[in-house]
Order: sequence, then structure tokens, then C-alpha cells
Amino acid sequence: MRTVVIAGGTRGIGGALADKLRRAGDLVVPIGSADADLTSVRQTAALATRLPDKIDVLVLAAGRFDLRRIVTNEGFEQTFAIYVLSRYLLAERLRPALERAQTPIILNLSGTGGIRAGRIHWDDLQLTRGYTMLKATMQGARANDLLGAGFAAHHPHSQIRYVLYNPLFVNSGMHRQFRQPTRALVGASAALLGSSTGTAASRLTALLAEPPTARLTVLRRGTPVPLTRPEFDQSAAARLYTLLAELTVAS
Ligand SMILES: NC(=O)c1ccc[n+]([C@@H]2O[C@H](COP(=O)([O-])OP(=O)(O)OC[C@H]3O[C@@H](n4cnc5c(N)ncnc54)[C@H](OP(=O)(O)O)[C@@H]3O)[C@@H](O)[C@H]2O)c1
Repeated sequence: MRTVVIAGGTRGIGGALADKLRRAGDLVVPIGSADADLTSVRQTAALATRLPDKIDVLVLAAGRFDLRRIVTNEGFEQTFAIYVLSRYLLAERLRPALERAQTPIILNLSGTGGIRAGRIHWDDLQLTRGYTMLKATMQGARANDLLGAGFAAHHPHSQIRYVLYNPLFVNSGMHRQFRQPTRALVGASAALLGSSTGTAASRLTALLAEPPTARLTVLRRGTPVPLTRPEFDQSAAARLYTLLAELTVAS
């Protein structure tokens, strides 16, 4: 029986994956905002100390996106806090627990996969100037590409396999947090064009049953993406890793 921790495992794709894995006999620990507010570095760090000391699979699926720029109590832009900082912190702080498993996996659900749109705003990571939800989401996606590259580079002797995975458009209900008319537009598009959460979760269940063997794998749904692409640039990954370490060192 595997122990699977799913950050963002209470709803959406993570919730559907939690249901499937639980039914298949895994011990699943789903995390939602009622368990820990992952927009808070302090709460994310505290959560990591409460989780099992041996973890086979860590799924990073928590996200929160907003049309307005929201600043957390700790002074971070919310998208950056949950999409980048919490994922960095969970992977790093749960690494010892993952190393105790036989074939540990970090599965990071993000907007990866041969997409060059969006960039890291190195001079304004918290997007104090000209915030838009798209800009924040795309910066988060590019940062997650670098989190995968950074994790593999920082831990060259680790047994952990890091998988960056883009599920593409999924009708997860994510649109419910938007205001009208965006809510109606995104909701209708998702219902028409998106996969169901059950279908997305079935694909992930199959992936976890036969995980890739490389230390870093990038998949755009089922299609492998070459690591030679500029999104996985090693010097940018090292730069981001150093910045995130500095931002979280006190927690
Ligand atoms: N859906 C898509 O089309 C799509 C496409 C590409 C990539 N992705 C990636 O897949 C991930 C999951 O997407 P989804 O559509 O399944 O998202 P979702 O339906 O919005 O679910 C988000 C999850 O994050 C949790 N969460 C939100 N804020 C939180 C907080 N402050 N603290 C702790 N947990 C929090 C939610 O739990 P509570 O409700 O309990 O707070 C929920 O379990 C996204 O982050 C994104 O990176 C999705």
C-alpha cells in the first residue's frame, strides 16, 4: 500500500485522483485549505512536519488564481505563494520522507510542456506592477518548469523521480472562483472542451502505476517534452532555487 499525499486533493483533479487511489487501496492524505493554508509559507512548513514520515507519492495540485492581485499576510502575491513557494517548500521539506520509499515520485500538475508563453519577472516576482491573472498564472507555470529542473539538479543522488505534468484543459470547477462574466465563459468552455476530472485522474492513476524512470520527466498529457527546451534552463532554475531558499529560510 502506497502513501500518497495530495496537496489540492480535496477538489478538482487532485480530488478525483484521491478518490481513485483510495479505492485502489492506497493510503491517501488529501490536503485542502481546511487542512493548511498553502498560501502561507509558515502553515506550509508546519504542515510538512505533520505528514507521514514515509511518503511514496507527493502530488502538487493546489492552486488558487484570482483576477485581483491578492497579497498574503506574509507579503507574497497569492498565486506566487501557493503555486510556487508552497510547491518548492513541500518538495524540499518532504524529501526525507520521500527518500524512505522504494520508488518515490513527485507529481507536479502545472502548465508545463513546450509552452514558451509567460516568463519569470525576476525584478518583480510579486507582480506589484501591471498584475493580471494571466501574467501571474504564466509566471507560475514557468516557475514550476524551473522547480522540476532545480529539484533534479539540487539532488543528483536522490531516488525521487520528479514528473512535471500538464493535464491540459480539465473541467474541474476552477472557474467557480471567478466573477461573472469570466465564470460563465470559462465554465462553458470547460464543459464543452475540457476533460472530466475523472478522465484526468484515470490518466494520472495509469501514470503512477508505471511511473517514468528518469529523475525528471515532463509530460504534456501523455506526450513527453524534451528537457533541452529553454523553459528548463539550468542557470534560471538555480537562480530561482536560491531565491526560494532565501524567502523560506525562516519557516
Ligand atoms: N484544470 C485545468 O484545466 C488545468 C490545466 C492545466 C494545469 N492545471 C493544474 O492542475 C492543478 C489542479 O487544478 P484543478 O483544476 O484541479 O484545481 P481546483 O479544482 O481549483 O482545485 C484546487 C485545489 O487546491 C486546493 N486549494 C486552493 N487554495 C488552497 C489553499 N489556500 N490552501 C490549501 N489548498 C488550497 C483546493 O482545496 P480547497 O477547496 O479545500 O481549499 C483544491 O483541492 C492546478 O493548480 C494547475 O496547476 C489545471
